[in-house]
Amino acid sequence: MKNEAIGIFDSGLGGLTAVKQMIEILPNENIIYFGDTGRVPYGNKSRETIIKYAMQDARFLKHMGVKMIVAACGTVSSVAPDLSESLGIMYSTVVHPTCYTAMRVTKAGRIGVIGTSATISSHSYKKRIQQKHPEYEVFEQDCPLFVPLVENGFTDENDEIVRLTVKRYLKPLKDADVDTIILGCTHYPLLSKAIKNEMGENVTLIDSGKETALYTAKLLKEKNLLNDSGSGAKFFVSDTPFNFENIAGLFLGKDMHNKVTQIDIEQY
Ligand code: DGL
Repeated sequence: MKNEAIGIFDSGLGGLTAVKQMIEILPNENIIYFGDTGRVPYGNKSRETIIKYAMQDARFLKHMGVKMIVAACGTVSSVAPDLSESLGIMYSTVVHPTCYTAMRVTKAGRIGVIGTSATISSHSYKKRIQQKHPEYEVFEQDCPLFVPLVENGFTDENDEIVRLTVKRYLKPLKDADVDTIILGCTHYPLLSKAIKNEMGENVTLIDSGKETALYTAKLLKEKNLLNDSGSGAKFFVSDTPFNFENIAGLFLGKDMHNKVTQIDIEQY
């Protein structure tokens, strides 16, 4: 079982923020990544649709013979926090580890959460933080244009469209004087330079992709399931791989051409 891959999925490119970290901290693991590029974005869809998509994504990964499944997607994690029973496999999500780190680093107890509309209306991050720290103030903001920006390659902090969109969405959090911001959607770390520029050096950004990778490593270690002989990552998408290959290649810093396979997710 140790030698089986870690299965990771997201609606598109966002989960790569977890994959990138995972490759660094767990270089001897096999990773199978699925990005549901044919159906992205998830964040403006109904709960029923998001759960149906998440189950199909997870069933595809299970069919590939993985040892655990990571929903590297804030939206799925918020709407379907526990699919392990219905899937019959170890399943982890992004909300818990991300909140844990935010609670640890905030000094003023004023935390901003940004995410998709589905994530923000579920209040998943806020509920978890206030369960533990009812005295903390949590300010939530959905940023529905961030995912389409990232999926279309608009991540450069100097790009006028990126700068203005970030400024517009973050204004309420700036006004609320938060000292910590949870990037509650795994796509958002790709915009972290622009977000940092807008919020200033004194605000700490919590990267949900990175926290998910660290938590996955901890879980595998605890369960004695770490691999020491894996050989890297394989990538699958549900639409033409071209766009994914270009942007993923830039983000992961390697040539991804002809390394991404298209599958029919409706079969699962
Ligand atoms: N990366 C997903 C998340 O973390 C993106 C959601 C979407 O597809 O809208 O929420």
